[in-house]
Amino acid sequence: MTVTPDYTEKIPNNVDLREDRRLQRALESWQPNFLTWWESMGPTLPTRDVYLRTAINVGREGWAHFAHVPMRDYRWGIFLAERDPGRIVGFGEHQGEPAWQQVPGEYRADLRRLIVIQGDTEPASVEQQRNLGATAPSLYDLRNLFQVNVEEGRHLWAMVYLLHAYFGREGREEAEELLHRNSGSVDSPRILGAFNEETPDWLSFYMFTYFTDRDGKYQLGTLKESAFDPLSRTCEFMLKEEAHHMMVGTTGVDRIVERTAQLMVQNDTDDVTGLGAIGLPVLQRYLNFHYSVSLDLFGGETSTNVANYYTAGLKGRWMEGRRRDDHKLADDGMLVDALVDGEIGQTQVASLTGLNTDLRREYIADCQSGVNRWNKILESAGLPQRLALPHIAFNRKVGAFAGIEATPAGELISAADWQQRNGEWLPTDVDKTYVRSLMQPVHERGKIAAWIAPPRNGINGQPFDYDYVHLA
Ligand SMILES: [Fe+2]
Ligand SMILES: [Fe+2]
Repeated sequence: MTVTPDYTEKIPNNVDLREDRRLQRALESWQPNFLTWWESMGPTLPTRDVYLRTAINVGREGWAHFAHVPMRDYRWGIFLAERDPGRIVGFGEHQGEPAWQQVPGEYRADLRRLIVIQGDTEPASVEQQRNLGATAPSLYDLRNLFQVNVEEGRHLWAMVYLLHAYFGREGREEAEELLHRNSGSVDSPRILGAFNEETPDWLSFYMFTYFTDRDGKYQLGTLKESAFDPLSRTCEFMLKEEAHHMMVGTTGVDRIVERTAQLMVQNDTDDVTGLGAIGLPVLQRYLNFHYSVSLDLFGGETSTNVANYYTAGLKGRWMEGRRRDDHKLADDGMLVDALVDGEIGQTQVASLTGLNTDLRREYIADCQSGVNRWNKILESAGLPQRLALPHIAFNRKVGAFAGIEATPAGELISAADWQQRNGEWLPTDVDKTYVRSLMQPVHERGKIAAWIAPPRNGINGQPFDYDYVHLA
C-alpha cells in the first residue's frame, strides 16, 4: 500500500497522482492560484532561506526532511496516512462496514461542507499571521512561524486534494473559493469567527497556536474517525504536523511566563511593564480572549446536524476507539451547558445532539493542562499569582451563553456592567499598544527579545543559536 513519493514532481504526493491525469491537471491548474495567494497573502518578510521541515512521506521510518529551503523552492505535497485495507467504520449506523473509498451519494453535500469548513481555517491563519515575521523575537521563533505557515498551506492542499479528487465540479469550485475568501475581509470573510480576528503580535500568535490551533487538533481528531477513508487518512497525517503547532503555542507561553516571573522575582515587583516584559494581568486578558473565541469554534451546545453526521459515520468523537459505549448513542443522554430560567446551568439532552459539547469538554480539559504548566512555572519561581481559564459562559458569541454576559468567574452580569468592566478581563487598547511596543525584531543569530525566555531546545537537535533563517 506504500507509494513512494517523487519529490522532484511539481506536486509531491503519495496518492499516485501520475496515474490520474485528469486529477493531476486539475491540481496543476489550481497550483498557480495557490502560489499567487501565497505571494499576496502569505508571509511578508523576505528571506533567502529558512530551515524547514518538509513532509516527504508518511512512513514510520521518518516522514520529514529538514533543510534550509528558499521559500520559492518549497513544495507543498499531498500526503495521506497509509491505508489500512481492513479498516472498518467505528461508529454510527454503518458501524462494522468496510470504510468507504468513495463518497456515498447521500452524504456528498455534508462531507463536502465538512471539508470546506476545515479547509477554510488553514489559509486563514496564514493570512492572520502574515506580518509577524517583521517583529520575530528570535530566528528560532521566526523559523517556527514559517514552519507553521507552510504546514497550514499544506493542510489547505490536503483539503483541496479531497475536493478535486472526490467532489467533481462542485469540489473544484469550492477549492477556488478557499483562495477567494480572506481573513477579516468585509466582503468575503473566512467562515469561522476566530479566523477573522487579527494576530497582530507574538503574544497573540502563541495564544492563537495554543488555543485556536488546538481547536483544529480536535476537529481533525473527529474527522480522522470518518467512515470516508481518504478524509480519515488525510486528517491523521495532518495531526502529525499539528503537534508542532501545539508545541509552538505551549512553549511560547511558557517562555513568556518564565521571563515575566524571572523579572518579578529579581525586581520584587508585580509590575514588569517598566522592565520591558508582559505582566501577568495582560497575559490573563489575552488568554481570556483567545480561549473564549476558540470555545465558540465548537458551535452550539446541541446540534442536530452534528448528530446526523455522527449517525451517518461522517464525523466521530475524539478518541472514538477508546470510548466504552455502543458507538451509536441512540438511547443515551448527557448534560450540556444551558441557561436555565435565566441562570447559568445545565440541561439534559440526547447524547447525539450534545456531541459539540462532548468535543468542547475534551478541548477544555486539554487547555487546562497548559494553564497548569504555566502555573507550575509561577510556583517554581516562588510567586503566589496564578493564571486560570475563564468560565465557559465568559465572552461567548455562539451557543447558550451568546445572549448573556458573565465574568471570568461565571457570575451573570448586566450588559451595562459588561460595558463598564470588560476591560478588566479582555485586552484593552492600552494592553495592545504596550504589547505591540515590545514587538521589536530580533533577527540576530543567538539573540532573543527581552520579553521572552529562550527555548529549552532548538529544532531537530540544533541549538538555539543555529542559523534558522537567512534574511534576504
Ligand atoms: Fe492546520
Ligand atoms: Fe495548525
